[in-house]
Amino acid sequence: MGGQCYVLLLACGTFLASGFGSHASSASVPPPRPEVRCRCAGYPNQTLCLWSEPSGETAPTSYIATYRERNERSVINHCRLVPPGSSSSALSSSSSSSSSSSEKLWLCLLDHLKLYTDYVVNVTSVSPLGNSTQLTSFMVEDIVKPDPPVELRVSQGSLRRLVVEWSPPPTWSNLEVFPLKYRLRYQRLQSPSTHNLGPYESTTVTLAGLAPGRSYLFQVCAMELLGLGECSNWSLPVEVFTARKH
Ligand SMILES: *[C@@H]1O[C@H](CO)[C@@H](O)[C@H](O)[C@H]1NC(C)=O
Ligand SMILES: *[C@@H]1O[C@H](CO)[C@@H](O)[C@H](O)[C@H]1NC(C)=O
Ligand SMILES: *[C@@H]1O[C@H](CO)[C@@H](O)[C@H](O)[C@H]1NC(C)=O
Ligand SMILES: *[C@@H]1O[C@H](CO)[C@@H](O)[C@H](O)[C@H]1NC(C)=O
Repeated sequence: MGGQCYVLLLACGTFLASGFGSHASSASVPPPRPEVRCRCAGYPNQTLCLWSEPSGETAPTSYIATYRERNERSVINHCRLVPPGSSSSALSSSSSSSSSSSEKLWLCLLDHLKLYTDYVVNVTSVSPLGNSTQLTSFMVEDIVKPDPPVELRVSQGSLRRLVVEWSPPPTWSNLEVFPLKYRLRYQRLQSPSTHNLGPYESTTVTLAGLAPGRSYLFQVCAMELLGLGECSNWSLPVEVFTARKH
């Protein structure tokens, strides 16, 4: 009687182990649907979509990424895929360096988009265990978001004024035809209030009235002049110590 019980438990244990095993082995899970975000980093010709490679163990995945006009089902374009870690283009390096985490970003570049036209992007992850498709739609004008301005620098002008200067994002390649405007923000260190200034069309601003002998943080963002889309992310903060009173 005791022996029977022992055998039963053993069989039960084996069954449980194998049952759990097939679920816990994540390699048998089909790839999750990619979360695709699209952005126009330089109007009108620099639109890209990106998504992160799933973390953890999933079945080996490759991607098929296509786009078409919403009202033109017959013409399907492939977008140019850039795998994580590749720096084959200025756009990809600027975008991947701005992601702070270690997530691996796939990128695809969409060429020859028409203006004021609805597009549908299809990113399909393909694995031996199944495929999953994510559809995203946009009109370029709605997803304009430049990269942040670069080379922000602050210098001491005359009469305790500060001169704040920066350069446009290098990925915004059509500055002549589609100018940018800028917003500036600054904050005294250890003070909760932020001062917002702008928009400015120039890349130099002179500020007066800052407290002497204090540290301030400055940041700037860039936006398409007529207001398409949104302002870029804020540039990295630059800290400045104002001159003391004499
Ligand atoms: C903007 O900031 C967000 C959140 O910090 C980040 O996920 C994204 O990659 C940044 N984008 C660019 C273009 O720098
Ligand atoms: C954008 O690309 C199109 C071709 O797709 C080209 O005709 C046009 O000149 C480009 N525009 C700019 C401002 O570079
Ligand atoms: C998305 O792309 C995949 C792979 O090319 C294709 O099999 C699928 O039919 C497409 N889905 C739609 C809704 O276009
Ligand atoms: C996944 O996509 C590939 C390539 O388009 C195709 O050959 C395969 O049959 C698809 N698998 C499933 C499960 O839909």
